[in-house]
Amino acid sequence: MIYRMLKEDVYSVGVIDWDRRIFDELIQIPNGTSYNSYIIKGNNKTALIDTVDPTKTDELLDNLKKLNVDIDYLVVNHAEQDHSGTIPDILKIYKNAIVVTNSKCKELLSEFLPIPDEKFKIVSDGETLDLGGKELEFIITPWVHWPDTMVTYLHDVKILFSCDFFGSHRASSDLFACEDIYMAAKRYYAEIMMPFRAIIRKNLEKLKNLEIDIIAPSHGPLYKNPAFIMDAYKDWTSDNTKNEVIIPYISMHGSTQRMVDYLVNSLVERGVSVKPMNLTYTDMGEVALNLVDATTMVIASPTVLTGPHPSVVYATYLANALRPKLKLVSVMGSYGWGGRMLDQIRGMIDSLNVEIITPLIIKGFPKEEDYKKLDEMADEITSKHKILGIIK
Ligand code: FEO
Repeated sequence: MIYRMLKEDVYSVGVIDWDRRIFDELIQIPNGTSYNSYIIKGNNKTALIDTVDPTKTDELLDNLKKLNVDIDYLVVNHAEQDHSGTIPDILKIYKNAIVVTNSKCKELLSEFLPIPDEKFKIVSDGETLDLGGKELEFIITPWVHWPDTMVTYLHDVKILFSCDFFGSHRASSDLFACEDIYMAAKRYYAEIMMPFRAIIRKNLEKLKNLEIDIIAPSHGPLYKNPAFIMDAYKDWTSDNTKNEVIIPYISMHGSTQRMVDYLVNSLVERGVSVKPMNLTYTDMGEVALNLVDATTMVIASPTVLTGPHPSVVYATYLANALRPKLKLVSVMGSYGWGGRMLDQIRGMIDSLNVEIITPLIIKGFPKEEDYKKLDEMADEITSKHKILGIIK
């Protein structure tokens, strides 16, 4: 994508990756992504904010060439390679450029990339850098989503360069976000930010007194209405959950499917929102997305050999690793001749601070008494949701 002007002397010079469909060989990104990078021209000095994924180096270099700038400072908000991977190429061409970053980020960059120590300028929290008529302020925001993360605030024109913070995986030729970005931003939050919810809340507090006209993240479109995405983050990182049950499940021969279908109806009759997710057709990003607000997760699986189905193992592992604000968990499923599915699933959710709802593991197809037990499970969930005050 060609460079574009955000404000006078401030340019977007990053790259759109229309075709990328998986990130870190882990996260599915159905709408592609972008690696945003920015040029700020002061009266005396010019700064480049972050670089791009190494697969897109040529496009960034081409934009810089067309813009006809020299680079004095290369500000690195975060060491992960999708933003830092092009640094060595930049330093080869712009020989006077100095890498400006915090000490933790420098430590990581020095491990990942061949950057000589003398090329670094280390900044601390709140430190400023004068470009001549334009001043950058560096604000350390650790664990959004690595220990090195910081954001850079451009005084005067009030732009916050937030790197991964407030980002989204969306390839779009539109520079600025519309409200339809909400779900993409939420999915992105779920996939990489959610495990650090508590510290992200503190970092949001740290930014609350800044006057911000534009949030310019390093993935996805920019925000002309910063309150839109900041309020969304406040909601997602709060302790509040919604009157929602999610059911990640697999059914091999129909027994678990019958249990899921019955429980869904039983919960709906009791006024609870339910999201069944057949893991054969649901990507893990969607599972993560649905974990952001849910109060309850019911894991449902048939027995494969002696344990849960591998797709259920993956979803359970993911839920445990992402540490959502779930309050209640239960397990249900069926077996043919035995197994230890329940114990194995229980052993996989040790990072979740949840109450366990009475599980239900049955032999074969569900029978009359099993359906009664599913109604009891629905009663138990509904009554806990009432106690939590999320059913009005
Ligand atoms: Fe977009 Fe943490 O890198």
